[in-house]
Order: sequence, then structure tokens, then C-alpha cells
Amino acid sequence: MKTGIESISMYIPRFGLDIRDLAKARNVDPSKFIRGIGQEFMAVPAPDEDVVTLGANAALQALEGVDRSAIRTVIFATESGIDQSKAAAIYVHKLLDLPQNCRTVEMKQACCSSTSALHFAMATVALHPEQKVLLVASDVARYGLGSPGEPTQGAGAVAMVISAQPKIIAMGEHVGYYTEDVMDFWRPNYMDEALVDGKYSIKVYMHALEEAWNDYRTQSQAHFESFRHFCYHLPFSRMGLKAHLHLARLEKSGLSAAGLQAQVEPSLAYNRRIGNAYTASLYLGLLSLLETHPESLEGNRVGFFSYGSGCMGAFFGGTILPGYRKALPTRVHRDLMTNRQRLTLAEYEAFYTHTLPQDGNCYRTDRHRTGAFRLAGLENHQRLYEKVPQVKVLAADAAEACAAAPVM
Ligand code: CAA
Repeated sequence: MKTGIESISMYIPRFGLDIRDLAKARNVDPSKFIRGIGQEFMAVPAPDEDVVTLGANAALQALEGVDRSAIRTVIFATESGIDQSKAAAIYVHKLLDLPQNCRTVEMKQACCSSTSALHFAMATVALHPEQKVLLVASDVARYGLGSPGEPTQGAGAVAMVISAQPKIIAMGEHVGYYTEDVMDFWRPNYMDEALVDGKYSIKVYMHALEEAWNDYRTQSQAHFESFRHFCYHLPFSRMGLKAHLHLARLEKSGLSAAGLQAQVEPSLAYNRRIGNAYTASLYLGLLSLLETHPESLEGNRVGFFSYGSGCMGAFFGGTILPGYRKALPTRVHRDLMTNRQRLTLAEYEAFYTHTLPQDGNCYRTDRHRTGAFRLAGLENHQRLYEKVPQVKVLAADAAEACAAAPVM
């Protein structure tokens, strides 16, 4: 029985910062950010967006044409969660009016919990082929203003329906794993920004790749040439190329530098213009490969490396299915990518430094351009989400808005 991705969609904020504007403000040669790190633009969430609204917007599109009554599990993967107890999956479940006989859960292991979620979803579907699982991976990547990590920030969500009727990609049964207790990147509960030892994190990523790949080879008997394309976890786009050249060297691949680049380049295009989206990042790379590659990829095998700091790595493979293009909302994604507002540096810093009150008092967030869902505010320490009938930019009036009842 085949299991894999039946539908997939992404959502990104409608705002972003041109990386050249950031370089200028931080007095850095723009070529370092553009060529050295490989970023051009970074998605910036508005104050009325969070991982729930980003994830719900991605899921709304991913559920188009899917039989919702078959969804009995919603898994939400994130490392920028909004509550220590309640799963973000419950908010998404409500916003999307999903069936109530449903299991809802949130998962965490840095950027790779989405991959464990994928494999748990596949196991569920293998046991109950009539069921479908909605998997949402959603994150806001934040580092300190002016820190080395700042140009690698980003935000976004990917939602996938995992089922026994895959239309996009059938996933292989073998996975290579690697876990080691290291402190390369982490975020204590009392901090809003991640702490990171950047150079060390790259070394650990590479080591986890080697070990997960070796385990995968042992499990599956596959080899480097088994795959036509590769998708890597992308904290920034150059990392994908670095990782691929490293693996190719280890495997003594006979491919030319241009041949190796072609195996990974199409998966980098979205990351370059979105930035890191932690749990969603690998799957934004998959969408980038599927939607930007000029040729049909039907029948081609893809190798995936998922990395989560702390750390865990996973290597696995999948086969792109006939007719996959018809099942992709490529036009919607292109529209999202091209119709974004370029923020000034001051606007970006205002969005970045905006914080929600912690006193439980009634608070309404200013209304910005969002998708179909937004964070309306807070009341009694509870987040209030609302559906947005039409995308509009309106002036905010917090006092009046406080009196109006939100949808949720
Ligand atoms: N023109 C062109 N290239 C230039 C340049 C210039 N003027 N100046 C520097 N460069 C190049 C450098 O040579 C270097 O390239 P190589 O790595 O190929 O040598 C590249 O630009 C970056 O330069 P530095 O290493 O000096 O940059 P930095 O010290 O500012 O840090 C970083 C870069 C470590 C990636 C930092 O942005 C960071 O800490 N990012 C967050 C952590 C991260 O993304 N880690 C990745 C692995 S962990 C992970 O994957 C989990 C996750 O999602 C976070």
C-alpha cells in the first residue's frame, strides 16, 4: 500500500524585508547575505499573525477538495508554540470546522518534529487506510536584532494531508535516524528569541546528515544515485548546497559541480525569498522543487534530510507521482510569493518588537493584511482568533474593537 502526501499547501505572511535593506542598516556587505548565506527576502509576520493563523491558512488551502470527514488526526508541529499546555492543533481544528471525533496534538523537536509527524501520520494511515491525517508545520524564526542569525529569520507554514491515496509523493518506508544531546540552538521558556552557536550548529547539522544517511543506507540498501533530487532542511538556502556537496563528497559521487547543483537548486528558490520557517522549511523546499522545476518530475525519487537542533536528523526518500502538478495549488503560491509588501527597516523593527500584553487584560491587535484567519487579540489570557472574510488593510481602532465579540 502506498502512503504519502495527498495534498500540500503553504502560507506565508504578506509582509517581508528585502535583505539588502537589512544589510544596509546593519552595515554589512549585502553580498554576504545574498551570496554567502543565500537570502534575498525574508517573510515577516504582522502582529496579528502567529503560528496558529499561519498554519490554519495553509491548512485551509491543503483541505481544498479533500474529504474532511476522513480526517481523524490533526498534528501540529512547531518550535514557536503559543501555549505550554494546549495544542495549537485544537485552534486550527476549530478554525477549519473539522470533525469533532478527532485526535489533536502538538509535537516538538526543533525543526524536525514535522518529519516525525509525517512518519507518525504514515503509520496511522498504514493501520487505518480509510483515515487521513492533517499535518501542519508552522513557525516564526526569530533571532536577536543585529545578531548573526537575523538575516536567516523568516516565517511560514506548510499543511499536508497524509493518506493512503497520495497524489503528490509516495513516501518510502525506511528512515535513517540520528540523535545526540548537543546545545547548538535552543530557546528557554523565558525567551522570545532562540539562542544559537551558529558555526557549531552547521558542524552538528553536517554530522547529523552523515549519521542519518549511513543509518538510512543500512536500513534501505539505497545509495546516492538512487535519488534524482535532494531536499534538505534549510535554515538558509546556502546550507542546502553545502550539505549536498558534503554528502556527494562522502559518497564519492562522479557528478560534476553543475550536476550536483542541479539536484538541489530548485528546492532552494522559495527559501531564498521566505527565510527559515523551522518545521516548515524542509517542506517549503519540497514545494519549491515541485513548483519551480521546469520539467515534469513524475516518477523521480527525492532524498530528504530533516534536521532539528539539539539534535536529531532523519534521512528518508519518496517518489513523485504521475499527475502531481494538477494536485498542486501553484498559482495560489505564486500569488503569495509575488504580492507581498516590502517593509521599511523601521516597520520591520516595529513588527519585530511588538509584544502581546501579559496581564490578561482585554487587548485587540491592529488589523493588518492577513489571510483568512487572524489573531484578533487577548482576553483573560486567552488568544482570540477570527475569520477574515476578505483580505483588507484597515486602520485599527483598538478601543472599539475590544467591545466587538471575536469569532473565537
Ligand atoms: N561576500 C560573499 N560572501 C561572504 C562575504 C561577502 N562579503 N562575507 C562573508 N561571506 C560568506 C562567508 O565566507 C560564509 O560562507 P562559507 O560558510 O561558505 O564560508 C558565509 O558568507 C557566512 O559568513 P559567516 O560564517 O562569517 O557568517 P556569520 O558569522 O554572520 O554567521 C550563520 C552565519 C552562522 C549562518 C548565522 O547566520 C547564524 O547563526 N544563523 C542561525 C543559525 C543557523 O541557521 N544554523 C544552521 C544550522 S542549525 C539548523 O539548521 C536549525 C535551524 O533551523 C536554526
